[in-house]
Amino acid sequence: GGRRDLEGRTVLVTAGPTREPLDPVRFISNRSSGKMGFALAEAARDRGARVLLVTGPVHLPDPPGVQVERVETAAQMLEAVLRYAPQADVIIKAAAVADFRPAHPAEHKIKKGAAAPVVELVPTTDILKELGRRKAPGQVLVGFAAETQDLLENARRKIREKNLDLIVLNDVTQPGAGFEVDTNVVTLVYPDGRRQSLPPMSKRQVADAILDALPWAGATSAQA
Ligand code: PMT
Repeated sequence: GGRRDLEGRTVLVTAGPTREPLDPVRFISNRSSGKMGFALAEAARDRGARVLLVTGPVHLPDPPGVQVERVETAAQMLEAVLRYAPQADVIIKAAAVADFRPAHPAEHKIKKGAAAPVVELVPTTDILKELGRRKAPGQVLVGFAAETQDLLENARRKIREKNLDLIVLNDVTQPGAGFEVDTNVVTLVYPDGRRQSLPPMSKRQVADAILDALPWAGATSAQA
């Protein structure tokens, strides 16, 4: 049993890393396992929401009762997210999207040669910023920030620049926080400067704490 406070709401979640190809067999990526985003999708489902999950390549199976779309690159994630966004009451961006991609991925496998190749990188589109620009009235936009320094300052800048309603700050240098592990240590930061630091807890508990911060939390009485 539990709260069904997201009944009638559509929640769009992103999870996992993206892969940016260097050649047909190699890519640039990061350590995101998808656990944080999948925990959010499952928690929102259990609270009665219709859940759309756009995920980069991860080893996790599709959560039952969640509509999953698997993508690979930041460009593909952008396309999928913008396609679903108009239906979403809440968008939660737990994915670790690549900020840069190789400018000219090689058509054939790069061969070992005399000179080491030099890879030119170009920025990807900031999906969250794009969502902030298009945000519909009443739509709630939640970002994450994975920082290693100047945490609060960076979080506050991201809230402003990306037009967010909430940012989930994880100090990825702390043990038991951030990438790959089953737990996280986060601070919720709001546009008015308020912040709430949560103790170390499982990613599922962090997910529920994030959903508790939504405007509809605790709204219905359909307890089971
Ligand atoms: O997947 P796990 O192993 O469980 O790890 C969880 C996590 C550490 C990946 C997660 O908790 C987390 O912090 N996700 C965001 C990681 C990240 O990319 O942070 P950032 O500070 O670089 O980006 C800030 C925000 O902008 C994020 O919401 C990100 O989704 C978004 N972004 C970034 C770049 C880009 N091109 N488009 C974006 O939308």
